Amino acid sequence: MSAGVGNPPQADQTTREFPLLAALPRDFTWGVSTSSFQIEGAAHEDGRGPSVWDTYCQKGLANHDTGDIACDHYHRYAEDIALMQRLGVQAYRFSVAWPRVLPQGRGKPNELGLQFYDRLIDALLAAGIEPWLCLYHWDMPQVLDDLGGWTTRDVVSWFTDYAALVAGRYGDRVKRFATFNEPSIFTLFGHGFGDGQRDISGVNSLHRAVHHVNLAHGAAVDAVRARVPGASIGAIHNFQMCLPSTLADAEAAKHCDLYWNRAFPDPQCLGTYPDRIQRALEPHMQTGDLAHIRRPLDWFGVNHYGPTYVKADPNARLGFGIGPKPPGIPATPIGWPIVPEKFRETLLRVAKAYGLPIYVLENGLGGHDKPDEKGAVVDNERIAYLRDYIGALNEAVSAGADIRGYFVWSLLDNFEWDSGYSVRFGITYVDFPTQRRIPKASFHWYRDLIKRARAQADG
Ligand code: FCB
Repeated sequence: MSAGVGNPPQADQTTREFPLLAALPRDFTWGVSTSSFQIEGAAHEDGRGPSVWDTYCQKGLANHDTGDIACDHYHRYAEDIALMQRLGVQAYRFSVAWPRVLPQGRGKPNELGLQFYDRLIDALLAAGIEPWLCLYHWDMPQVLDDLGGWTTRDVVSWFTDYAALVAGRYGDRVKRFATFNEPSIFTLFGHGFGDGQRDISGVNSLHRAVHHVNLAHGAAVDAVRARVPGASIGAIHNFQMCLPSTLADAEAAKHCDLYWNRAFPDPQCLGTYPDRIQRALEPHMQTGDLAHIRRPLDWFGVNHYGPTYVKADPNARLGFGIGPKPPGIPATPIGWPIVPEKFRETLLRVAKAYGLPIYVLENGLGGHDKPDEKGAVVDNERIAYLRDYIGALNEAVSAGADIRGYFVWSLLDNFEWDSGYSVRFGITYVDFPTQRRIPKASFHWYRDLIKRARAQADG
């Protein structure tokens, strides 16, 4: 059965209702997000080079999952765009896989890899869906990581050349560009926590990585701006309140906030590092760096799932780690805290601190969905989560935040990093052995919400 046949699964009465959308601007953008490594597959096809995540998977994830096939989106992108059309989204955020277009990380581009994104972008435009292109969603070419990856300053010119290639190739059709997805997450989990998790480079060099990513961001903004008339450029940050697990963890939570929430937006938007980070970074900085990092931006991308609870941990590299939720905080099936009012607060904080229009570019719920005996996937918990979080967004807008769009993570169940395929974030179920797509109840709910919001905007 292709996506589109069959009766839509029914959400139950308690979750079916919609949040208030009254405060949203008329031209509010509704979208969905994905990323290259998590959905494309075709890992060994058409000349793609290996990324750090291919290497990491070879070390052995749970279930020995890899990105080799993932959602096979490389071959099924047309079917996936048809799903987006059914949803009625105006925008689709995806990322380009650096090692697909530059298998050696630099030097000779791979024409076959570049052609995949030509096909994808052309099909999106033909479907009336605006492509939002993110340059980096964590899949660094392995060959560059072997040379030091984010810990060497050379990476700034490698990334700039890559950004110039992508902007030059697609800038006639793509206007929305993001430099990085969640720089604080890949630097902290790659170099900061030092607990083996995602510690893919094995180098204790968080501060160098932070600074080089920021420099690469600034240089890429200039490279895209120079090549794409009318470009609208931003970066995407995982921004969520860092809250103490217990009263004794208050200092640790404040410290974590500097790295998790401020180490990238502060220099990129304000031209300064928080003091404590500035001191740690000084050995890696050169005159003029902050001016190169702070380049004019058009918007601020927020990815948000729930607050981060933090504990003091004297044995951790930075003196803090992820802590337990205090008792009584509701959680998703994978244990992530559900606190919609902290989303509202986060959006208001970002609006006030950085003064840019905001797009929420990821939000969603991870679970262990399964089709029922009729083959339907009734994910009421996800619907309730989306309803409450979109409601909180509406409240932030009525309290004055300039928020212009909302993108669900994710269109499809996909490769969820360390959890492989065991955790599902999609509003479309993917039966991985057959690659069959089954829209979940949340898919139908989101489609109806978009319809209602757009009717309201037109009326
Ligand atoms: C974010 C990532 C995204 C996805 C979601 C669940 O941190 O950007 O790739 O894994 O979490």
